[in-house]
Amino acid sequence: VNIAVLVSGSGSNLQAVIDACENGHINGRIKIVISNREEAYGLQRAKDASINAVFEKDEKRVIDIIEGEDIDLVVLAGYLKILSPDFIKRFENKIINIHPSLIPSFCGKGYYGKIVHQKAIEYGVKLSGATVHFVNEEPDGGPIILQRAVPVYDEDNADSLQKRVLEIEHELIVDAVKLYCDGKLKIVGRRVHTNGK
Ligand code: GRF
Repeated sequence: VNIAVLVSGSGSNLQAVIDACENGHINGRIKIVISNREEAYGLQRAKDASINAVFEKDEKRVIDIIEGEDIDLVVLAGYLKILSPDFIKRFENKIINIHPSLIPSFCGKGYYGKIVHQKAIEYGVKLSGATVHFVNEEPDGGPIILQRAVPVYDEDNADSLQKRVLEIEHELIVDAVKLYCDGKLKIVGRRVHTNGK
């Protein structure tokens, strides 16, 4: 399975997928990493792993690059841009995204990065976590593939919660990409079956 990963930041989720492909856990190959931010450390991680790393802000050119690479799966790993309906149409049910909350809580327009954890703390939730989902035209609204929860403690702040959530994001993104590459994901209505049936 040929994978493209889109990043905007440090790329720690990308790194988890790179490692899992390198050690054979994921039966897939990252063919390209694209970022809309030139200084994204995720591009450096790609270069260090001898993966084609491209800085491209124009979405039309991003689409052309992906289509040129014969990609089977697009992974959004901290990609801070909303994809156009055209992009989503072209890669229908081949785009997955990781979001640092238990969707449908604390998601959608304006909920990204530390803001998500700040809102969870302010709300006073006892559990937060991460979600991997297929991307559709509703920001963070596509069919959910996997979720994992973490406890929120009284003394937590956005930083301590983000750190705890990020650790399970790295597990979740690898598990979701592996399920996809193993052909185990089946969308039935709004639900994603992960047993292949
Ligand atoms: C992660 O928290 C991810 O859920 C959110 O942005 C952050 C990206 O982190 N979308 P990284 O660039 O993968 O380290």
